[in-house]
Amino acid sequence: MGKQRVLSGVQPTGNYHLGNYLGAIRNWVEGQSEYENYLFVADLHAITVPHDPTMLASDTYTLAALYLACGLDLNHSTIFVQSHVSAHSELTWLLNCITPLNWLEDMIQFKEKAVKQGENVSAGLLDYPVLMSSDILLYQADKVPVGEDQKQHLELTRDIAARLNHLFGKPDQPVLKLPDPLIRKEGARVMSLADGTRKMSKSDPSDLSRINLLDTPEQIQYKIKRCKTDPIRGLTFDDPERPECNNLLTLYMLLSGKSKEAVTAECQDMGWGQFKPLLTETTINALKPIQEKYQAIMDDRSYLESVLRDGREKAQAIANQTLAQVKAALGYSMPL
Ligand code: TRP
Repeated sequence: MGKQRVLSGVQPTGNYHLGNYLGAIRNWVEGQSEYENYLFVADLHAITVPHDPTMLASDTYTLAALYLACGLDLNHSTIFVQSHVSAHSELTWLLNCITPLNWLEDMIQFKEKAVKQGENVSAGLLDYPVLMSSDILLYQADKVPVGEDQKQHLELTRDIAARLNHLFGKPDQPVLKLPDPLIRKEGARVMSLADGTRKMSKSDPSDLSRINLLDTPEQIQYKIKRCKTDPIRGLTFDDPERPECNNLLTLYMLLSGKSKEAVTAECQDMGWGQFKPLLTETTINALKPIQEKYQAIMDDRSYLESVLRDGREKAQAIANQTLAQVKAALGYSMPL
């Protein structure tokens, strides 16, 4: 039996931070040899809210370079850009026409983002989950690593696939495969440095709330120095009264590679004055190899372009095949 196929993507909207790395990219890297991975830069999703055209291309290359710098191996993973494979847009149209409007209106993330956008809600924002369904279904993915915030979108993807299969497939020959979530044992949820109850986020207006993968050692030191803590001595995991403490210990655990038991024992008698320099040094050391590799890749633009060209070709081969099957099932025909 061949390997199962995993598909995932991140939007190229800047400020790639420790939450993106520890919560997503590092998990892909760790599991990559078990699966056949398709990992892309979700640049079509990036324009569902107002965007800056001059930033889009540079954020796209930065993210692709970070994928490689974080250790994605081209022997196991195909890296590509969503907009380079036109089948994503085309399948989205076809799926739009079989997706009931109220399924989209019920999406939690749409409602939250729509409130934030005020007057500025585009049809694309409502359609975001259909585009995401196309991303997944085009590759007939077996597994999609999802965090809590994307779970509902994966369920919608299954519902859309089941509906298309029901309406247009034969019972023994489904057109689209229903994907399953890939749930990791230790789901790392990295929280804001300013508030241990909120997720670390790209869109938080304060840069002090997050550590970006490309922050300098000085920035990292400053941010950890300034981050929120509590007045209690002795550091413990999992105390609901101490969300910041839990978050900072978790960061230390993940970045140092030590076990939870080891970190518990090491830090139980520490005060913040002792812990913060330790976390600072550990973070700087963990990010250093990624930053060096990132710089080397960015200095070799032709290499990065060749990776994305190869990725586009591999992705297109699969995506176009699925698209042709869907079009045939829907009744389209075209002379060769
Ligand atoms: N919506 C995802 C996010 O913002 C990114 C994404 C786009 C994605 N298409 C996808 C993730 C397909 C997994 C599968 O995090």
